[in-house]
Amino acid sequence: MSEAKLRVFSGIQPSGEPHIGNYLGAIKNWVPLQDRYECFFCIVDLHAITQAFEPAEMPGTVFDVAVVLMAAGLDPEKCTIFVQSDVAEHCELAWVFTTVTPLGELERMTQYKDKASREGSVLAGLLNYPVLQAADILLYHASLVPVGEDQVQHIELTREIARKWNARFGEYFPEPQALVSRVRRVMGLDGQAKMSKSLGNTVGLLESPEETWDKIRVALTDPARKRRTDPGNPNVCNIFSLHRYFSSEADLAWAEEGCRSAGIGCIECKRRLTENMVAELGPIRERALALRERPDYVYDVLAAGARHCREIAAQTMADVRERMGLAGVMKPAQAKVE
Ligand code: TRP
Repeated sequence: MSEAKLRVFSGIQPSGEPHIGNYLGAIKNWVPLQDRYECFFCIVDLHAITQAFEPAEMPGTVFDVAVVLMAAGLDPEKCTIFVQSDVAEHCELAWVFTTVTPLGELERMTQYKDKASREGSVLAGLLNYPVLQAADILLYHASLVPVGEDQVQHIELTREIARKWNARFGEYFPEPQALVSRVRRVMGLDGQAKMSKSLGNTVGLLESPEETWDKIRVALTDPARKRRTDPGNPNVCNIFSLHRYFSSEADLAWAEEGCRSAGIGCIECKRRLTENMVAELGPIRERALALRERPDYVYDVLAAGARHCREIAAQTMADVRERMGLAGVMKPAQAKVE
């Protein structure tokens, strides 16, 4: 007996070239889902505009994310890849949801507080960011949402919004569940904070082997290991944390043992890491370079994704309007004429 496949929805912001933190924390975990579920992967440009951005750069950034998603293994034959702003219903449903979302809930979101604390003047879009996220997910009645740890609070709010709307207008939206990736936050090359474009501590997913080496070569290691002869502590080493993502058990043991005994130097360790990174990322980079040569194919994939999503989204909004008394006062009369 075949069960209807559960729906999966997730989003990724177009904010500069995707880096290995985006890849390990999100994209890589999405790939196996497309074989089990009906998946929707959305490039969330409307979320990206809640922070500083350059309009002229947006199309290229969106394109690059689409390329990376496909190069990393998302197959347009198996899943739907689309751009959020291509489906206007995301905004419409988000507006509807603002009318059932308590302001206090939005104000206590940690990501909001974090971002707001770094801005002189806080915009309403930043506050409403999680409401748009709830609309993204619920528009497609998705039940599973693969995300990193930092998004769990937003998924809980999504569930609350679904409950509040259902309580007022009738049972309709399912309460989605977060599928939290076990990948811990990927640290930046500075070893100080999460890998993030705005901090300039990233390795781009599409960087060449040489560029990757140039970055890894100068990255911070165990700060207490000053000389080659000092034994190091892999548990506080940034480079070792990257080995955990890219290296085999054997290489991990080699690095750990060599570091603790000062048997190997940091440069050797970094070289091995870079080799392992290039082995995994090289094929992705090659596919990405090939896709960049075929921009029309990439646009076609996004256009087909948007068409598919608009159909589903239009149905959801028709249902929502109906249940909220917004289906239009002229409807019955028109129906008679037809
Ligand atoms: N806020 C998410 C992030 O920064 C991106 C996102 C937008 C998203 N809409 C979504 C994730 C819907 C999951 C589902 O990572």
